[in-house]
Amino acid sequence: MSRSRLAALDRRQMLSWIARTSAGVAGMRMLAGCGEPEATGVDAASGIDGHAAVCTPTSTDVLGPFYRPGAPSRMTIAAVAEPGDRLVFDGVVVGPDCAPLAGAMLDVWQADKDGRYYEPNGAEPFRLRGRFQAGADGTWQLHTIRPGNYMLDATLWRPAHLHVTVTHPEYRTLTTQLYFEDDPFLPPNDGCTSCGSDDPARILRLDAGRDGLRTAVELVLARA
Ligand SMILES: [Fe+2]
Repeated sequence: MSRSRLAALDRRQMLSWIARTSAGVAGMRMLAGCGEPEATGVDAASGIDGHAAVCTPTSTDVLGPFYRPGAPSRMTIAAVAEPGDRLVFDGVVVGPDCAPLAGAMLDVWQADKDGRYYEPNGAEPFRLRGRFQAGADGTWQLHTIRPGNYMLDATLWRPAHLHVTVTHPEYRTLTTQLYFEDDPFLPPNDGCTSCGSDDPARILRLDAGRDGLRTAVELVLARA
């Protein structure tokens, strides 16, 4: 990609571009478990390289007992007054060919900083829950707080996580969880042995941003 074209990209386009270039192999592509590209010749449309990208579908995780349908449509699920460290997810939804999936729908839910979930019919309905659609380039940006750990019983803890389901009419629905690399309750310390918290593609790095923590993730849907 030429320098001038690179400079013309805005931040969200950049995220999508990084996810499909060789430069991204060391970053988001590895994070998402994308495989080696297959040589197919020059891509005149993109001008990026001469390879067709292959992305491994994101692994699934348990839905868990706290999913509730009907969350409000919003990408900001933490109110200004929500206690905790502010956290922004920059994400992109792609297919197994790494092409962005316009119109993918995401449903996210999480615990608060102390590990509590909130019910739709409780005193604070749908707190820390939301649904939203990825953009035409497959990208999305979630504004929230870093979730807390919670106990499954008197001795077993879970690593902090964001629950997410992704749906698209032409692809298999993805239900998974996203974790954070510095969590002391990642495997072998995760109390949930049926969860998939040992997948490095879903253990995200947190970076300190100007307004809080930031992370990035590529979610790859399998064909239906
Ligand atoms: Fe959970």
